[in-house]
Amino acid sequence: MSDAKILLGGNEYELPTITGSEGEVGIEIRSLRKVSGAVTLDEGYGNTGSCKSAITFIDGEQGILRYRGYPIEEVAEQCTFVEVCYLLIYGMLPSADELASFSESLTRHTLLHEDMKKFFEGYSPSAHPMAILSSMVASLSTYYPESTDANLDLNILRLLAKAKTIAAFSYKKSIGQPFIYPRNDLTYTQNFLHMMFANPAEPYEVPEVFDHALRLLLILHADHEQNCSTSTVRMVGSSEADLFASISAGINALSGPLHGGANQKVMEMLRRIRADGSNYKKYVEMAKDKDSDFRLMGFGHRVYKNFDPRARILKAAANRVLEELHLDDSLLDIARALEEVALQDEYFVERKLYPNVDFYSGFLYRAMGIPTDMFTVMFALGRLPGWIAHWKEMREDPKARIHRPRQIYIGEAARSIPPRDKR
Ligand code: CMC
Repeated sequence: MSDAKILLGGNEYELPTITGSEGEVGIEIRSLRKVSGAVTLDEGYGNTGSCKSAITFIDGEQGILRYRGYPIEEVAEQCTFVEVCYLLIYGMLPSADELASFSESLTRHTLLHEDMKKFFEGYSPSAHPMAILSSMVASLSTYYPESTDANLDLNILRLLAKAKTIAAFSYKKSIGQPFIYPRNDLTYTQNFLHMMFANPAEPYEVPEVFDHALRLLLILHADHEQNCSTSTVRMVGSSEADLFASISAGINALSGPLHGGANQKVMEMLRRIRADGSNYKKYVEMAKDKDSDFRLMGFGHRVYKNFDPRARILKAAANRVLEELHLDDSLLDIARALEEVALQDEYFVERKLYPNVDFYSGFLYRAMGIPTDMFTVMFALGRLPGWIAHWKEMREDPKARIHRPRQIYIGEAARSIPPRDKR
């Protein structure tokens, strides 16, 4: 693609362009301020590329999502979550030996340092598990400082392995049960479910259907290029803050209701509709009303303008799992009805608002017995390899610079402090 030209104040400036491997075109504006004095303004970064990345490709118009070139549908069908972690972080699917060694290391690092258990005692019993997760992940750096490049890979393993133990322990703390330690004979997903649902009085045999559903959920959440939390991880990591500090910041960014926190809000919204006589049409009207701040949670996406491929897969999986378990879920009926009405409504059609990944994921979590306030933690566990992959990609880029955007100042012009009484 030839250079782009900008006309500004009667002057013409040429700017280089860059074309990505899928034909995406970007205009490099780095030199613009130097030559013209102007910066670009793009609030919310809807049209700004913040980096070059080889991890995940999304075409929002076509509903395409690929991890390292592999379509999400194939990855979801054929891979384990541990393979996806390896794929995202190291750029290729592991060989059998690599997978065996990676899985073994993950299993060996699942235990938390015993002293870390004391931290849980300090949290309020009503603490949100996302707040606990981010604090505990930040605390990992006090045990495992990143002193050399060699222990970087080790810290990646520790983080992937221990985050699920932290998540399960925070659940046990919230229900007042003793922590259940991981077992080395279990897989990554089985181990998490074991730590969540076993208790000293009752062993827990991980149902295969839950193991499969969890694998799918984690894989579908594993990466999504430059979203709010991943950009946060990159932003924090760009100052060369360590892995745990950067990921802890990403967890906090994910917690908001417009991002990962939406999965919890979807379930709360559906419960509210059910308590209100299941009058879902009223809520569609409220979502359209500009005088109301109500939004249909689990609808809309900054990038997907046709459909979210993850939502499609999850909707089918939720139907399958509930059928297999003979579970009747009245909230799922409301969700389906809401989707049907919204998809035909001019407001939603015009704005290209479709169910996103958060709309149906909660039904699978519910079926497994995972409580609503743990939903966003589940998203975080899935997103970990994506955050780590982006942090590592940036760390290894010799040209990476600290993130430091510009702004357009709209405050007061220079003025002097007026004379005041002596204090
Ligand atoms: N319900 C009703 N109206 C909506 C919704 C919604 N869920 N989402 C967007 N709109 C309207 C919005 O009011 C605006 O209308 P208008 O043009 O008349 O002002 C228009 O659609 C464009 O919305 P926007 O807020 O400018 O879009 P955005 O790209 O900034 O926001 C979003 C994307 C996901 C934050 C937004 O769609 C939303 O708030 N959805 C509900 C929360 C949600 O489900 N979040 C999870 C996102 S997917 C998981 C993840 O990656 O985090």
